[in-house]
Amino acid sequence: MMKVCKAVFPAAGLGTRFLPATKAQPKEMLPLVDKPIIQYGVEEALAAGCNQIIMVTGRGKTAIEDHFDHSFELERILEEKGKKDLLKVVRQISDMIHVAYVRQKEALGLGHAVLTARELVGDAPFAVLLADDVIDAEEPVLKQMMRVFEEKQCSVIATQIVEGPAISAYGVIDAKAASSNGRLYQVYNMVEKPALKDAPSNLAIIGRYILTPTVFDVLTQIQAGAGGELQLTDALKLLLKQEKMYAYVYEGKRHDTGDKLGFLKATIEFALKRDDLGGPMREYLRGLKLN
Ligand code: UTP
Repeated sequence: MMKVCKAVFPAAGLGTRFLPATKAQPKEMLPLVDKPIIQYGVEEALAAGCNQIIMVTGRGKTAIEDHFDHSFELERILEEKGKKDLLKVVRQISDMIHVAYVRQKEALGLGHAVLTARELVGDAPFAVLLADDVIDAEEPVLKQMMRVFEEKQCSVIATQIVEGPAISAYGVIDAKAASSNGRLYQVYNMVEKPALKDAPSNLAIIGRYILTPTVFDVLTQIQAGAGGELQLTDALKLLLKQEKMYAYVYEGKRHDTGDKLGFLKATIEFALKRDDLGGPMREYLRGLKLN
């Protein structure tokens, strides 16, 4: 019985959609209310039982490392000032996890970023979380997927129903229903960013994967695809020739925080859910004279 203990966070992308904010700071560190985007993903991985976090970073990403490290000076000052609550919040982050970092020297694509983590992952199934996809869910999405993995013991990818032309922004699966509740599918093929008329289904691949280590062999066999990048979707297509794969339609609401509008929507929704901010935020929004 295989278990998943490691979670890989590819975070070496350039974040061009969010320039100029991402010129000198990683998009993963942009705050959603008061927590960096990547922390939501790390908390999800921990809740799903992954206690070994692997971050694939690149140039200009040291803020991520600092965030998950001790901050002696800050902690000392908070201690001296008796700010116990803040001290607890700051310490919780560094105490939360052990993180290993590996650098992707050039942003050669998501597939390449995953391959960069090979040595740290070793010969075991692992999770991949794209931190931009922040998913608000009662049960953390990776935990939902773990249940499927535990039963099927093969790769599981998270999908979402996307109606209409918006499907063309995603990888789309060709699949057959594998459960009566409409959430589980066996995957037969996938197409990257198809035109609506060519989309094999309305099931879009989003940023959560549980993969078997076979994917590393496959990643070394594929050629660079669109944009000169090594595409994870191309590797998954090849993996399908060797192993079974399931897609799971997760329960929850996803926010694409790598996109400006998605980020703003997530900020508002997360603020509205907060005990300390929800009331005043609602009042403020009600007072806006929108036409
Ligand atoms: P994105 O497609 O969001 O690309 O990558 P990006 O470069 O981060 O952002 P934009 O599109 O230019 O605004 C999906 C995920 O893969 C990682 C990113 O960090 C993100 O988590 N990635 C992408 C890498 O780690 N390395 C790469 O070479 C490419």
